[in-house]
Amino acid sequence: MTRARCIGILTSGGDCPGLNAAIRGVAKPALSDFHIEVIGIEKGFRGLVENHSRVLHPHDVSGILSLGGTILRTSREKPHKMPLPNGETVDLTARAVETYSRLGLDCLVCLGGNGTHKVAFNLMKHGLNVIGLPKTIDNDLAETDMTFGHDSAVTTAAEAIDRLYSTAEAHLRVMVIELMGHHAGWLTLSAGLAGGADIILIPEIPYDLDSICQHLIERRRRGKWFSIVAVAEGARLKRPGMASAEDAAAGAALTKAEFKKNGKKDKKRKKDKKKTAADSNADVLDDLGDGRASSSVAKAISKRLGMETRVTVLGHLQRGGIPTPFDRILATRFGTQAAEMLAEGIYNQMVCLRGSEVTSVPLDQVAGKVKLVPADHPLIRAARRVGTNFGD
Ligand code: F6P
Repeated sequence: MTRARCIGILTSGGDCPGLNAAIRGVAKPALSDFHIEVIGIEKGFRGLVENHSRVLHPHDVSGILSLGGTILRTSREKPHKMPLPNGETVDLTARAVETYSRLGLDCLVCLGGNGTHKVAFNLMKHGLNVIGLPKTIDNDLAETDMTFGHDSAVTTAAEAIDRLYSTAEAHLRVMVIELMGHHAGWLTLSAGLAGGADIILIPEIPYDLDSICQHLIERRRRGKWFSIVAVAEGARLKRPGMASAEDAAAGAALTKAEFKKNGKKDKKRKKDKKKTAADSNADVLDDLGDGRASSSVAKAISKRLGMETRVTVLGHLQRGGIPTPFDRILATRFGTQAAEMLAEGIYNQMVCLRGSEVTSVPLDQVAGKVKLVPADHPLIRAARRVGTNFGD
């Protein structure tokens, strides 16, 4: 492969702290050490389809290391599924390929999560050279031990749990906090462990309300009349016939498709309002309210135990603000690794972290895969050892 002389760079998908540090990590050495022209593509892949681009100069990428958000803006749009005003979608991949050629790019550096890497892989199949940088607060990208943005979100969420702790204790309440993470439990697991949550509910371990209530009763017996429950937005009630935590032990054993299938089953179940004798949780299914796992758990606790509960949905606060030093360093390492690869003409890879080493992996090993929490993960083992309940 020939070394790159001109590259495009874009940020796509949900933003996270560390994107600007990564842009800086790519652009600074590209411009000054390797004399590669850098073109910023704005608003993610929409910018590639519509050619919203600008040449980035050293001063554009200076002073942005600790900035949250992204100086290039972002969007969730994909070239092969661009939304039309009438709600339909159209495949504009050819326009994206055209922009790449018109700008004279030798490679497109894509900073994003699962969706972004799927698109990057698709563009690669259309003849583009691409390099991916793994970002997301969810940490759910395959083939990398860590994505940048995750540590910052864990820090924000753990601080929120710390703050809930004192008010929970003051009122002797059960505080339920819902965290993001999409289909994966990494964020809730780490924040819950760091914040000392008494109960942690993640999608990979379907929860049972009897187990949760029993744990709270035992805490009350020990004189602990308050508790913190950390719930992932994707947490799911255990149902008869559902894959157990042990089934998920192999890591990504529950595939994205299986999650979707379970989700569909859940919806059908709610619609039918069928109650089976085997399903001891069925009584709360009619009571879901806003459909959030956190709300249904809180309602079930107050209904079954008569305990006062409050729900906090942390939402996009987890994506905002400045990156932690860990994320600044990781994003800088990922970015500079990408710059070195561009200088050597190494393309069609995602930069990744293996242990403490930054390296890269072919895109086809990443695209379309999700990294879930294995049920025997060391963080789960440690949490169980200090008495945390996972609702199983
Ligand atoms: O992937 C990052 C993430 O924050 C998920 O945790 C969450 O499910 C989703 O994005 C929220 O997306 P949006 O910002 O589009 O509401």
